Amino acid sequence: MRLDIEVLRQTIMEAIEKAGDPEALEEVRRRYLGRKGELTMALRALGELPPPERPRVGERLNALKVEVEEALTRKGETLARAMEEARLMAERVDVLLPGRRPRLGYGHPIRLVWDEIEEIFLGMGFTIAEGPEIELDRYNFEALNFPPEHPARDMQDSFYITSTVLLRTHTSPVQVRTMEALRPAPIRIIAPGRVYRRDAPDASHSLLFHQVEGLVVDEGITFADLKGTLVAFARAMFGSEREVSFRPSFFPFTEPSAEVYISCSCGKGGCRVCKGSGWLEILGAGAVHPNVLAVSGYDPERFTGFAFGMGVERIALLKYGIEDMRLLFENDLRFLAQFAAEGR
Ligand code: PHE
Repeated sequence: MRLDIEVLRQTIMEAIEKAGDPEALEEVRRRYLGRKGELTMALRALGELPPPERPRVGERLNALKVEVEEALTRKGETLARAMEEARLMAERVDVLLPGRRPRLGYGHPIRLVWDEIEEIFLGMGFTIAEGPEIELDRYNFEALNFPPEHPARDMQDSFYITSTVLLRTHTSPVQVRTMEALRPAPIRIIAPGRVYRRDAPDASHSLLFHQVEGLVVDEGITFADLKGTLVAFARAMFGSEREVSFRPSFFPFTEPSAEVYISCSCGKGGCRVCKGSGWLEILGAGAVHPNVLAVSGYDPERFTGFAFGMGVERIALLKYGIEDMRLLFENDLRFLAQFAAEGR
């Protein structure tokens, strides 16, 4: 019996030592100290021993039970500590690791140019006006002195919604709306916004694009005011070294009319952008036609004015050296990211 108890002791201690986690340890406890555990059963069987052996064996078994309980507790604590350490190692964060920076937004080139145009004209004392994108034929064409059979009124060129309502094809209707709403003179406004034309999209055309209209009306406004204003604009936008050229043109709502060019950055030697001409067209302009003044409620005998209109995309293409207008509408971040530093 003495030997058996020593063997049992060694077996239990080894099992405790080998337990690798709390579940395994609990399994050992159940096997020896559970209700049907080996040690429990041995204690229960004491009564079957011959009476003279009972006290000695009982003492030994009880001592073993205490020893096993202590060993189980100690091992339990060791295991718990080891698991806690392993958890802390696994969950460790490197607080010195640099964080992930959120990506900052930046202006789209159309927006950048739009803002810059506004800023230049606000600096010259203009204010900003607006008009609807869904416009009456009356404002888009009729009041602007387009004859009834003008090709721009054709269904082929404009997006008509009904026979009298269309998506505006230019920002010039804001001229008439502003003169109707703003009296008396002086008027000095720009009107930026979206316009629509039924063009097949290519490197220089888009169904939807943006224009900035300008209008000045007062007594004594001359073509010299138009020239001075637009030369100042062109140089502020493209650089003070640019030359500006005014060439005769035609618009139904201005008389006389002009196309305005700036000298190309190639120095007029001729390059691909200016197609060898040395000049780049940037806008259309002219003195407000007397018919347009009259229709808008201004006496053309007393008031004169000038107007201009430019394509925002066209200015962006020229300013940033972009070769295809479609790039402005694809919103490819690889393209747009190149403008991150502009306009800051
Ligand atoms: N509306 C004209 C266009 O779309 C531009 C323009 C505006 C010309 C004002 C003269 C005066 O082409």
